[in-house]
Amino acid sequence: MNIAVIPGDGTGPEVVAEGLKVLKEIARLEGFSYDLETLDYGGDRYLRTGQVISDEEVQALRRYDAIYLGAIGHPDVKPGILEKGLLLKIRFDLDQYVNLRPVKLFPGVDCPLKDKGPEHIDFVVVRENTEDLYSGAGGFLRKGTPQEVATQEMIATRFGADRCLRYAFQLAQRRRAQGKPGQLTLVGKTNVLTYASDLWFRAFNEMGAREFPDVKRDYNHVDAVCMWFVKNPEFYDAVVVPNMFGDIITDLAAMIQGGLGVAAGGNINPDPGGVSMFEPMGGSAPKYTGQNVINPIAAISAMSMLLTVTGELKNDDRLVRAGRRVEQAIMLTCPKMESQNAGRMGYTTEQVGELVCEAL
Ligand code: IPM
Ligand code: MG
Repeated sequence: MNIAVIPGDGTGPEVVAEGLKVLKEIARLEGFSYDLETLDYGGDRYLRTGQVISDEEVQALRRYDAIYLGAIGHPDVKPGILEKGLLLKIRFDLDQYVNLRPVKLFPGVDCPLKDKGPEHIDFVVVRENTEDLYSGAGGFLRKGTPQEVATQEMIATRFGADRCLRYAFQLAQRRRAQGKPGQLTLVGKTNVLTYASDLWFRAFNEMGAREFPDVKRDYNHVDAVCMWFVKNPEFYDAVVVPNMFGDIITDLAAMIQGGLGVAAGGNINPDPGGVSMFEPMGGSAPKYTGQNVINPIAAISAMSMLLTVTGELKNDDRLVRAGRRVEQAIMLTCPKMESQNAGRMGYTTEQVGELVCEAL
């Protein structure tokens, strides 16, 4: 397996180092080999060269089996430049059309919801990752004048909805095979977005009835989901959602699973030859840089996802097993930690990585 590693900014390199430590250990235990190539994209390189990443450099990422990303965001770089220039550019140019966010409360992790435990919070959000308000369509008219007009267009295509829905239905089927409910909830706003949400609603029900009759279908408005994720997270198994609403509800979901110290995500191109990118959800946390206090569990979870998802897409059972073993090791490690918050874990960043290796 060839992995491109982009440690990125701030504390990204520190947490990535722990994910790679765990990779080394699981590869030894499962007997597979891999090559790493570390790439210096991020804020420092941008400040040095004035370039975030070129078209050719993004295309060159196609030759890897997966990309492992630390964090993007630099205090000296204006917000938006690195996010758009690197993260969103890789997502779009490599057509990583699924943003996969497992929402699982691990044992021993503090949950801000009263009376909710690991048995209540175990679902996965499939967020469309290339369309909607993220398409960049729109513009200004009479910019800077009192009559200024700005438009930002919400794009929904049947093709884009269908390919994301198919991934979500297949995932719900796989969860059912693992003894989970195998129910898929579509999130939208059909009562107001009578075009974009309507397209998704019809695509969802037509595909479900025709191709996945064994998957139970449900629909929730996005504002209602913000209530139910808090009140009854146990309702959810697999959730599918367009890009912008998905961005918002996955931050809410990250908090109920214990916060940014544990939440990980994948930007997935499931097509043959597609290259996917895995990342911890937390930012670059510049003020903690170099202090060895950031929780690396999210980055180690991202490594677990990298192995599991790459294994599933390439039909490699050993990688799938490796990814699951890393997740189990995380579940054995979290109860030993005092807290999931930076500086309050009872261990350093490096020690948490070592604990996961010992648990393996
Ligand atoms: C996420 C992030 C990104 C997004 C930002 C950093 C551009 O919030 O991965 O959810 O909006 O998709
Ligand atoms: Mg987000």
